[in-house]
Order: sequence, then C-alpha cells, then structure tokens
Amino acid sequence: GEGRILVVGSVNVDLVLGVARHPQPGETIAGTGSRRSPGGKGANQACAAARLGGDVRFAGRTGAGPDAELALALLHSAGADLTAATEIPDEETGLAVVTVDESGENSIVIIAGANGSWTPQDVQELRAAVAESDLVVSQGEIPAAAVDELARLCTDTGTRFLLNLAPVIEVEEGTLTAADPLVVNESEGRLALSSLTGAEAPDDDMATVRGLRDAGIRSVVMTRGARGAILAVDAEISEISSPVVHSVDTTGAGDAFVGALALGLARGESAGEAGRRAARVGAFAVTRHGAQPSYPGREDELPE
Ligand code: RIB
Ligand code: NA
Repeated sequence: GEGRILVVGSVNVDLVLGVARHPQPGETIAGTGSRRSPGGKGANQACAAARLGGDVRFAGRTGAGPDAELALALLHSAGADLTAATEIPDEETGLAVVTVDESGENSIVIIAGANGSWTPQDVQELRAAVAESDLVVSQGEIPAAAVDELARLCTDTGTRFLLNLAPVIEVEEGTLTAADPLVVNESEGRLALSSLTGAEAPDDDMATVRGLRDAGIRSVVMTRGARGAILAVDAEISEISSPVVHSVDTTGAGDAFVGALALGLARGESAGEAGRRAARVGAFAVTRHGAQPSYPGREDELPE
C-alpha cells in the first residue's frame, strides 16, 4: 500500500513532574521541576509515525480550549491529519500526571476525560477512514466497546489492525484474534494470555508469546524495554535487541516503538525490519525528556 495509517486512541496533556525518587504512600516530597506536554498513547503513537514521515490520520477526542490545543500541538506540527480529532465541549481533555525519577522510571495517573466518551457509534463514523487505510492502530486507553467496534470494521473492510493492548482492557476475544500484530509488554502479554486461556500465564516471555500464538493470535510483538522485543510472525519467533542508551525518561518510549513499527508495517516492510527500526526509535526516545517531545524526526540519527 501507500502506507496510510489511521490511529484511533487517547490524547492527553501530560503534566510531567521530576523527582529524585518516587514518594511513598502518605509521604510528601519536593519535586525538581514540572512541564506540560502532549501525551496519550494514541496521540503518541500517531506522532511518532508522523514525525518519521508517515501518512498519519489521528482520530481522538479532547475537550475544548487551551488544553486541547496543547494536547494536539505536536501532532499538528508533525503534519498529522487531524480532521477526525473531535472536540467534546462538555468533557475535559485527558490528563496524565507523570512522575519521573532520576533513573528515568515513571509512574502515571490518568484521568480519561474525553477519551472515555468514545462509543461504538463514534467508531462507526470512521468506516471510510478505516477502509482507506493500510493499517489501523489502537490501544487500551479508550473504552473496550469502541476498540471492539474498530476491530470489526477492520475485519469487514479487510484492513490490517495493530492492537497495542496497553493498558490491558476487557476486549472481546474476536478483537484479540483480529490483531495482526498484537503488541504487548511482558505483563500485558501475561494478562492477555490468562484472559484467553482462563489459566495462569507462564513466568517466561518466550513461553507467553508462544502461548498467545497457540491461543489464536495471528502475530505477536512483545516489547521488553531495554531488553528489546520478541517477534512472533508466521511460524517464526525471533528476538531483537535494543540499542544500549542512557535512560533519561522512559515515558512514551513504548509508544515511539509502536508508532515506528506501525509505519514500517504500513509501508509493507517485514516485521523484523520494522521491529528493528522501532527498537532504535524507542531507544532514542528514552534519551530525552517527555513523550512526544522526545521522538525523532527523519533528520535525527538513531542509536545502533
Ligand atoms: O505511554 C505513555 C503515555 O501514557 C503518556 O503520554 C500518558 O499520557 C499516558 O497515556
Ligand atoms: Na522520553
């Protein structure tokens, strides 16, 4: 195809707080600084693909006003098509409070706001956009019923569907088996597998990926942070490594990986080729602050 991507998902304002270490329950600590920047897993993935030169349309829901403007600012400057980004006047724009410690490790609290207002009917309105796309991408930060409807539209129109089940939400089994690929991290993979089989998932990444395949998932990509990723496509299962970098802020690095993976797959690259570049894009994002502000453009040199 021509590499057209439709991302249907969340968009937030990220309030990022720097801390020396994460506070304990009941504890008050002083932070080192704060910054507001665009975030949300859907918007992040769309932004990563658009910054790398992808033909990206983003369908998301915000409130009205300055927060919505901030939330969409980097998607806008990356050249993403925002005609399917909708302002819901009665809702607040999604908010994520992200605390990042000195090692770059984060903890996040999300208020869904307008992201929680997606209905299956809203998704139905995207039928033409789905049919026009080479790849449709979604995540677990909008209601499960909306993701289920999107998966059905992809199946109906014969459009490839990348599902990043982050966080894990209770989608229908048919949504999981429509995913090609299903992208999960280690713990998401185990949760998805136990929800499919009803049994406890193995405490081993390879075995979890194999289990997901055996449970009927067409292709699986398991992201493992600094340890790279496991790809299970066709009959093959392979591992890719991640470049070794100095971690400043891991927020949204997984989304950078997914956006880059989506771009490669939409352009018809093999999962191996797309996955290797995605690992380098994710590693780049870890070396800079914030989610979207840390994503590489075409001109940036990626770590090896
Ligand atoms: O994956 C990182 C993202 O998760 C942040 O940008 C935050 O908005 C939350 O959605
Ligand atoms: Na970052």
